[in-house]
Amino acid sequence: MADKEVMERVNQLRRLIEEHNYYYYVLDQPRITDAEYDRLMQELIKLEEKHPELITPDSPTQRVGGQPLPFFAQVRHRFPLLSLNDAFGVDDLRDFHRRVVATVGSDVEYVVELKIDGLSVALTYDQGILVTGATRGDGEVGEDVTQNLKTIRSLPLRLRQPLARLEVRGEAFMPKEAFARLNAARESAGEPTFANPRNAAAGSLRQLDPKVAAHRSLDIFVYQVMYVEGYQLTTHAQALELLESLGFKVNPHRRVCRCLEEVMDFARQWEDKRHDLPYQIDGLVIKVNRLDQQAALGATAKSPRWAVAYKFPAEQAQTVVRQIVVSVGRTGVLTPTAIFDPVRLAGTTVSRATLHNEDYIREKDVRLGDTVVVQKAGDIIPEVVEVKKEKRTGQEKPFQMPRTCPECGAPAVRLEGEAAYRCTGGIYCPAQVRERIIHFASRNAMDIEGLGPAIISQLLAASLIRDPADLYSLRYEDLVQLERMGPQSSKNLLAAIERSKQNSLAQLIFALGIMHVGERAAAVLSRHYHSLDELMAAKVEDLTKLPDVGPKIAESIVSFFEVPGNRQVIAKLKAAGVDPRSEVEGGQAQGKLAGKTFVLTGTLERFSRSEAEKLIESQGGKATSSVSKKTDYVVVGANPGSKYDRALQLGVKILSEEEFLKLVGVE
Ligand code: IVH
Repeated sequence: MADKEVMERVNQLRRLIEEHNYYYYVLDQPRITDAEYDRLMQELIKLEEKHPELITPDSPTQRVGGQPLPFFAQVRHRFPLLSLNDAFGVDDLRDFHRRVVATVGSDVEYVVELKIDGLSVALTYDQGILVTGATRGDGEVGEDVTQNLKTIRSLPLRLRQPLARLEVRGEAFMPKEAFARLNAARESAGEPTFANPRNAAAGSLRQLDPKVAAHRSLDIFVYQVMYVEGYQLTTHAQALELLESLGFKVNPHRRVCRCLEEVMDFARQWEDKRHDLPYQIDGLVIKVNRLDQQAALGATAKSPRWAVAYKFPAEQAQTVVRQIVVSVGRTGVLTPTAIFDPVRLAGTTVSRATLHNEDYIREKDVRLGDTVVVQKAGDIIPEVVEVKKEKRTGQEKPFQMPRTCPECGAPAVRLEGEAAYRCTGGIYCPAQVRERIIHFASRNAMDIEGLGPAIISQLLAASLIRDPADLYSLRYEDLVQLERMGPQSSKNLLAAIERSKQNSLAQLIFALGIMHVGERAAAVLSRHYHSLDELMAAKVEDLTKLPDVGPKIAESIVSFFEVPGNRQVIAKLKAAGVDPRSEVEGGQAQGKLAGKTFVLTGTLERFSRSEAEKLIESQGGKATSSVSKKTDYVVVGANPGSKYDRALQLGVKILSEEEFLKLVGVE
């Protein structure tokens, strides 16, 4: 192709790809299949590889930023990012309206929008191209997070009309589901969790490594035009329409209201409906619609006089703590939980909330009989926010963490540097034993279908099992006598137990419940050790050489295998036929997918991530977590992450879910 033709094709491809991004991520109405999309992207990548001089910052190949930054550059906002005055109830709203009317007269309309609970960002487009995205900072100077914002696929890198200059504000946020997923993953990796989606979004946007940010499923609603060249706008409603036509994701739940009653009606609706939204909102923003009226109202140093943030009453409730119970987890951690009189909160009835640990109780000074304020963190997890000390009668009883395990009576100790007390009963503590067996049988571990907590408790109570290995010597007669177990379910359970012998070494390692060894670490270990025997022989210094295995994990593994009880269980498992082997890196794998490496990204419809990984491994393939030139296939589900972009960049073969199913012979 001649240079001119190449350039034309590159431009055409970029337009097409961004067009399809827009249909997919903004309108949620995909127009082409993933495979067709991939073909366009591949073609663009190839052309850009051949002609790197043609790469521009708005190319869809540039969404996944390059190298981690040493720090964020500072950006001085051309228009300071003001914040809004809060209105906490009808009276505050009336006051706001009165002040507006006093300046502009009673002929006033309001645009009411949802107040998205995320982080405010300022975006600048030059000649239609996104040039800077910055955090609010102190309102005057923010941080340049352009790289991270670019990973948000619903954010246009190029406007649908080439305006000379545009500056807008929007809210970057993490959807509730992504928040829950992120926290679950962090918890299983032993990392601290985020208190709410807003903090999670802030943490993600301020990641120096754009690849981490790209993983975090952020999204963005744009809600304000700060400056535009080439358009004569007269109302805010028009501005929002303009934003929509430029390709931004603008929140559809908004209303132009002609009087305060309409505003309040809208507010009442959303106070209930907000829990059904897939993202968190903490109120509404009410803005004067006419821009000339906005100008007449002006702003104070801190906030505009033409808008107000109507905050929903926090979803909090008061209740009385009746009991603090202490439960024992599988690693012996004692967790205190407050049991209180049931209250309605964010759409459900709650009667318990974790108190985390001794320090938390001490800091909040929670006592039995106290009246406390409870709320749901991120609309999801109930928590005790504060104690109403003024309601104390003197009858409240301070709580002491037990110095012995409530389940087995062994001493409970608080290790240095830890907030938790741990039961020292180990394998002699029935609670730890129960929790470990529950974990052993759980879905991502040995995946023994039909073996839930209730049956495990019965099996323990009847002394039919004492450790996970005993599951493999259960007989039909043992099971059929249990409550709620008929002949068929007993047979099914035995079959499921038998089937679990075929599980991978990674699953077994994870199932053992070694402290700090989550699924990812287990997968890494199984790639470097052939069998449990080999892993048991590993020393701390061998283990720390592996990727993702730090000294904390390594020491935990070594001390786990030093406990004679644990060694016994492993010997019993082996005797029962639970002794999976893995193909060590570089080894000769067998099976249809032998030697092939896969990376999964996005949500698959037919499988969970771990099921798909098992499927790959069962055929001799390897599922890894990062895409490199050596990766053979990247399997792409819905809402893929940065791995997808990386695969496109490297030209790695991309498979849709259907193509993957064909390859593994499921379809
Ligand atoms: S308008 C001058 N609209 O709420 C424009 N803000 O203090 C002022 N927010 O920091 C902001 N959703 O981050 C506006 N639809 C919306 C919003 C919104 C969320 C945030 C914004 C701001 C805070 C108000």
